[in-house]
Amino acid sequence: MIIAIDGPAGAGKSTISKRVARQLNFQYIDTGAMYRGITLKCLRLGIQPDQVSEKLTDLQTEIQLDGEKIFLDGKDVSQEIRSIEVSQSVSAYSAIPAVRLFLVDLQRAMAINQNILVDGRDIGTYVFPKAELKVFLTADVEIRAKRRFLEMQEKGDVVSFEEIVSNIETRDRIDSQREMAPLKKADDAIEVDTSSMNIAEVVEHILFLVTSKQGEGMNH
Ligand code: DC
Repeated sequence: MIIAIDGPAGAGKSTISKRVARQLNFQYIDTGAMYRGITLKCLRLGIQPDQVSEKLTDLQTEIQLDGEKIFLDGKDVSQEIRSIEVSQSVSAYSAIPAVRLFLVDLQRAMAINQNILVDGRDIGTYVFPKAELKVFLTADVEIRAKRRFLEMQEKGDVVSFEEIVSNIETRDRIDSQREMAPLKKADDAIEVDTSSMNIAEVVEHILFLVTSKQGEGMNH
């Protein structure tokens, strides 16, 4: 079974997805982490978004997901990819078709013979259009920014609330306006607005949707 969870920045996708995947014993695939990994590598090497297409093959990038960790060329970069620098650049690199094709191939290969829960922007529309369950998670922008702000404060990162609001708004704009596989709710996705829900409630609701889908499958 494939569960696709899409939605804008800061809607709580990864927090919710990790918990739901754990409960169901599904493999969790954080596609945002993969785009962040490529971005981190390009930033370190000084490769601009408009240069990445021609350099991608030479870069020989290896990206591996292991549970909730991400390894870039064999090194654990789970912390580094969450920095504000990466967050500010990731949408520009993600809009490059060569980057997307490279990562989408990896994502599809990960789905073979496994129950997976995948979160991202284009999972239900492009990567796995036949996913059995598609959820589109949203929340008001102020609420998304507040959650992200608290999360970063807890980690000890120094960023202002305004910087986070602006980062979220800019990313949503670039992610939904790009030409290839933009952020968009799939026609058959179930929209869940989490503005007034807590984490446990959202997890519970998605588990309920999974059970309903599994029940539907049995009746066919
Ligand atoms: O989910 P996230 O905030 O970690 O994602 C970081 C960026 O990666 C997001 O702003 C756009 C890009 N992304 C994408 O283009 N397609 C995906 N399936 C997942 C993420």
